[in-house]
Amino acid sequence: MIKEKNKITSQIQIKQKLEKIYIPPMAGVTDLVFRRLMRQVLGEHSAEVRLSTEMISSKGIMYQDNPKRMRLSDDEVGKVIIQLFGHEPETMAKAAQIAEKAGAVGIDINMGCPVPKIVNGKDGAALMKEPCLAEEIVRSVVQAVDIPVSVKTRLGWNELDKNVIDFTLRLQNAGIQSLTVHGRTRAQSYTGQADWNYIRKVREALEIPIFANGDINTPEKSLEAFEITGCEGVAVARASIGNPWIIRNIIKKLNGEEIAEPTLRERIEVAILHLELAFEDKGEPGVQALKRHMSKYISGVSGASHWRQQLATSNSYEEMKRILDEMISLI
Ligand SMILES: Cc1cc2nc3c(=O)[nH]c(=O)nc-3n(C[C@H](O)[C@H](O)[C@H](O)COP(=O)(O)O)c2cc1C
Repeated sequence: MIKEKNKITSQIQIKQKLEKIYIPPMAGVTDLVFRRLMRQVLGEHSAEVRLSTEMISSKGIMYQDNPKRMRLSDDEVGKVIIQLFGHEPETMAKAAQIAEKAGAVGIDINMGCPVPKIVNGKDGAALMKEPCLAEEIVRSVVQAVDIPVSVKTRLGWNELDKNVIDFTLRLQNAGIQSLTVHGRTRAQSYTGQADWNYIRKVREALEIPIFANGDINTPEKSLEAFEITGCEGVAVARASIGNPWIIRNIIKKLNGEEIAEPTLRERIEVAILHLELAFEDKGEPGVQALKRHMSKYISGVSGASHWRQQLATSNSYEEMKRILDEMISLI
């Protein structure tokens, strides 16, 4: 049963800390190991960055209680957002309670994922076509937990149906405390360019803090996105894969400090650390999942395409480690 409580009191009491930078959920990327590595590279700046898990199925949580993807390390308790997807208000509420118990700092609801497997199940961006249901889900989750609830969404289903403003106004009324808007429609998936001007319209219509998202891939672009959208924060996803330093550099840029690109040695050392953490956590399957990160870590290295190919075809922890060690020895 969803617990009863005085929602108005709890909404006043619990205000989520507002970071300016958010590394939003990425399935297959923002796992425990990625987040651990990110915090290591960010050091004292870690507290300035909002981090999330990968998206997690609310139904999956119900059946497995605490699935692997929801695992938070002890030092992440009370610090990391858990993102849920699903379209059944009651199931979402129960899953949110389990996530809260697991130590989430907030619950994010996925209303933007465009992939057929998700939208065909009526989840993710499909909820933009069902605003009443989306609102009901939010009310149900907000009612069920004491931690802040947020939503991540897109501009609309397609060019002819850009309903993000009406849609998110409803969700704001239903109690979300912050929002992330990816400046593309579902139909665009990841093609074309994120429309930061449209995100500004959302910013102007709503009162809650908003993270602008889409195509922010340099510190300079983060400043531009702040300026164009007027948003309180920026969410940087793909650009952080194999490049945790971009987040550090965005923080520095915002603080008006000098930006330092990582040295080649630093890049490869962090790639090795990532490999070791992944192997320790998940064994060989964790190593295979690292290939997309590896290819980014080594961009800019002389002979990158040769090394990239070697890493892409490597079949084990030992082999990947040997290649990275060889690269370091040549610096
Ligand atoms: C590999 C991958 C996995 C993603 N998984 C999720 C997810 O689980 N939940 C979600 O809300 N968005 C997900 N996204 C979308 C990103 O969070 C982000 O909205 C999108 O990549 C646009 O931002 P960017 O241009 O900074 O990458 C994913 C994106 C990628 C590339």
